[in-house]
Amino acid sequence: MAESDAGGLEGPDGWPVVGNTFQFARDPFSFYERCADMGDVVPYEIAGRTFYLVSHPEAIERVLSTEHGTFEKGSFQREQLSGILGEGLLTSEGERWREQRQRIQPTFGPEKIDSYVGIMTDCATDAAERWRGEQRIAVDDEMRRITVQILARSLFGTDISDHVETIAEAMGDIGAQAEAPAAAALLPEWVPTPWDRRARRGVEAIDGVIEDLIDRRRGDAEGRDDLLSTLLVAHEEGEIRRGTLRDQLVTFLLAGHETTSLALSYTWYLLAENPDTRERLHAEVDDVLGGAVPTMADLGDLKYTERVVTEAMRYYPPVHRVVREASEDVELQGRSIEAGSILTMPQWIVHRDRRWYDDPLRFRPERWAGDSDRPDYAYFPFGGGPRRCIGMRFAKLEAQLILATLARAHRLELAGEGGPLELQSGVTASPAEPVEMIPRAR
Ligand code: HEM
Repeated sequence: MAESDAGGLEGPDGWPVVGNTFQFARDPFSFYERCADMGDVVPYEIAGRTFYLVSHPEAIERVLSTEHGTFEKGSFQREQLSGILGEGLLTSEGERWREQRQRIQPTFGPEKIDSYVGIMTDCATDAAERWRGEQRIAVDDEMRRITVQILARSLFGTDISDHVETIAEAMGDIGAQAEAPAAAALLPEWVPTPWDRRARRGVEAIDGVIEDLIDRRRGDAEGRDDLLSTLLVAHEEGEIRRGTLRDQLVTFLLAGHETTSLALSYTWYLLAENPDTRERLHAEVDDVLGGAVPTMADLGDLKYTERVVTEAMRYYPPVHRVVREASEDVELQGRSIEAGSILTMPQWIVHRDRRWYDDPLRFRPERWAGDSDRPDYAYFPFGGGPRRCIGMRFAKLEAQLILATLARAHRLELAGEGGPLELQSGVTASPAEPVEMIPRAR
């Protein structure tokens, strides 16, 4: 172990002043791997702030769930996200968060989510039609198109197909901030960098989409119970301000499609790299559906399909780390952590830890058959505790249905070499290059 400049604590060697900023910025995934090799709770320093990489499931469970009151999302997360999401459900804290979650939770009840099955399979069927005759597709763009459409038609009760390109471009602009060189992290926050300016342009484009959504649905909310109607009625009755309405809609528009679209892109890629697994998936889909579009009644029988998605989110977790700030001094796995430290809990590391997974770099959906004695938080793609993803049921249902609907009609093959995907780290882990694939009609 090395002595770092993070307050004289033991962690990866850094340079004076910048700590581990450059190592981290060059390749956060390898940096986390290096830290995790040193222990379950390892300090490092970025841009003058002390962080700890917390990679033991028991410690993660304490932070996210059993002792969640001692940890908050904190200023680091706010700085990263509030410029885009404002104070929506993902970024707010305390009473404000509780009140919003209570208002929104009923629109995510199981019956409500299950009622979206038809929308999900319709949007996937449209994509299968589009693919006929295509030589090559960027699977990440295609998955984004499907998940944006599903989100808008189900939670916002409207079609925003005409905005898909704007949203995709805006996501690229916003994501570019994560690619800013390490030096940008050392600048005072009030110095705007070119990456900040690009991100601002992205936020303005998203705001334009939201304005249009509100205009389309204004006066048409009464008597409907989707998310947008619930929020519009609350606004019209003076319960939430216009700014909150905007923040909430941006949060759901972005958090509600990007992650699921990534999960599906990784799933297709891993299937194409593992043809035996892909063929087993096709066999299940053919056997259960007999060529028809899946319905709610089929889901229980599409077990292998479900395991494929579960395993893909283990292998390439769309959200690759969850972050919290300690609001008081605490002890984790024998290590004292001072108030104000930032804790990074990396799905990327925990999901590939040999203590919980045999042969973790093999894509093996079979590992999810039957019970296992691994700790609960050895798998946490949706986070945990009270701030666990509100869209978890929606996302799992959607991923399973899209996969089955498309696998009925197409087999996706790699257009390139295969091998580990190069990822870029932002709020999510996304492919650094478009994921090109060849759709073969079956
Ligand atoms: C595979 C898909 C998805 C993944 C991997 C995912 C992952 C996550 C994670 C890890 C968190 C917790 C963040 C934290 O604790 O700091 C979270 C929260 C959240 N997710 Fe998801 N998510 C997915 C899909 C969705 C969908 C479909 C929606 C909405 C329709 C959604 C909306 C949200 C919201 C609003 C929060 C904040 C909840 C709160 O703090 O109360 N997510 N998600």
